[in-house]
Amino acid sequence: MTDDRRRDSGNGPPRRGRLQDPIALIPHYSITESRIAIAGHPIHAMLVAFPVALAFCTFGTDALYLWTGDAFWARAAIWAAGAAFLIGLLAGLVGTVELLMVPGIRLRAASWTHFVIAMTLLSILGLNWGYRLHSGADEAVLPYGLLISALAMGMTALTGWHGGKLVFEYQVGSSKPSG
Ligand code: HEM
Repeated sequence: MTDDRRRDSGNGPPRRGRLQDPIALIPHYSITESRIAIAGHPIHAMLVAFPVALAFCTFGTDALYLWTGDAFWARAAIWAAGAAFLIGLLAGLVGTVELLMVPGIRLRAASWTHFVIAMTLLSILGLNWGYRLHSGADEAVLPYGLLISALAMGMTALTGWHGGKLVFEYQVGSSKPSG
């Protein structure tokens, strides 16, 4: 982001003759520091690593089941899908509290975009687990288990990328430099 864009987005004095984002003028727009954090380190960022890794693992275990025919991998897929969903729910809960509590996060449209993408992902993760529990480990893999896992993997990549955009582009969740 250029210095000009930063100034015009409300993080500094408005400049004459340039367009000003009215949302950026709302008090507390620049308060984006995480509240659900340990010593300033956001818990959401710590938790999301698990659903991200486990969603990819579910696809991996499906692929290994198809390759080896060993039922162990189909059972491992149930555990990976279940853990991805449950830890994803926890991460989503922490993220939602953050979204509602921190004014600078709540005011940014990108935060709500992340919320919508993440809720879609959580629905797919829940479907992946529920379908396997309902159909049985082996029977679930082909074709729908594998297809849902592929969809979950793509959606996880999108959600993770967008979360990174929030942090690295909009500085959402980050604390102000102390020095
Ligand atoms: C359902 C509701 C969710 C909400 C409201 C939410 C909200 C947020 C917020 C506010 C941030 C900024 C950092 C912070 O303040 O902690 C963030 C970052 C992030 N989110 Fe979410 N999130 C949700 C779910 C998810 C899920 C399910 C995933 C992935 C599986 C995810 C992946 C990420 C990633 C990778 C980051 C960047 C973390 C970093 O690099 O520091 N989020 N999210």
